[in-house]
Amino acid sequence: MARRIDGKAIAASLRAALSVRVAGLAYRPGLAVILVGKDPASSVYVRSKDRAAREVGIAAHSLNLPVDTSEAALLAEIAALNADPAIDGILVQLPLPGQIRAQAVIAAIHPTKDVDGFHPLNVARLANGEVGLVPCTPQGVMKLLAATGITLEGARAVVLGRSAIVGRPMAALLLAANATVTIAHSRTSDLPGECRRADILVAAMGRAEMVRGGWIAPGATVIDVGINRLADGRLVGDVAFAEAALVAGAITPVPGGVGPMTIACLLENTVVAAEARRENENREN
Ligand code: GUN
Repeated sequence: MARRIDGKAIAASLRAALSVRVAGLAYRPGLAVILVGKDPASSVYVRSKDRAAREVGIAAHSLNLPVDTSEAALLAEIAALNADPAIDGILVQLPLPGQIRAQAVIAAIHPTKDVDGFHPLNVARLANGEVGLVPCTPQGVMKLLAATGITLEGARAVVLGRSAIVGRPMAALLLAANATVTIAHSRTSDLPGECRRADILVAAMGRAEMVRGGWIAPGATVIDVGINRLADGRLVGDVAFAEAALVAGAITPVPGGVGPMTIACLLENTVVAAEARRENENREN
């Protein structure tokens, strides 16, 4: 039976350490979270981010704009937050309504305040193996692997999914940690076979319980990034947990695995952004 990787507990200890770090600062880091519209799942995420930020001493500024907000109006909000010295991090919850181009919005966020790590400059830095703000979910996965004591160097890692939010940055981080990385996706031939080669399998396709027990090598580490709501209301991952847990060496549950780590890493990025920007300002003054 696989060891259960307790993301909830690991995230709680990360948040506790962040509280201490924030308490030692001469200022309160500020995080702006923008939600356009009232999508129920997005609203839940935004409220969780807001609450978690306050709990570690970050000043959270939540902005809920109407669903018919124009791209120009959203860009104007971002310009104001870019210029606001009290704001260290800006997060625009995705997905956005159809009239707004997500890429235009992401590119408008100042790279030093881009706590999602989605700005093209931060994407390029990660791709080049340089230091920058790193997307929260893949960074949270790296911390889970580290806390579990999983060796990455030389390990065969398979990332299922190629999104800009998870799959691609996940692969870049695993590569930077000297894993041998494969990105598999919906068009991959023999997906089960690719997965069975993995020492570390990160599932981020957004398909409920698609990864079956037979796709997993005995003893492999399975990280489930998926959060899918079934018709009966149950929340499940991209991995069929009960089957997978019989084969894997270690596995994350859903919920209580990657989800809490994503939020903890957002808070960490906010503190990192605050320290970097304000130190830079001090040097310039
Ligand atoms: N929607 C789903 N995941 C994310 C995320 O990590 N950041 C933002 N801004 N929106 C999301």
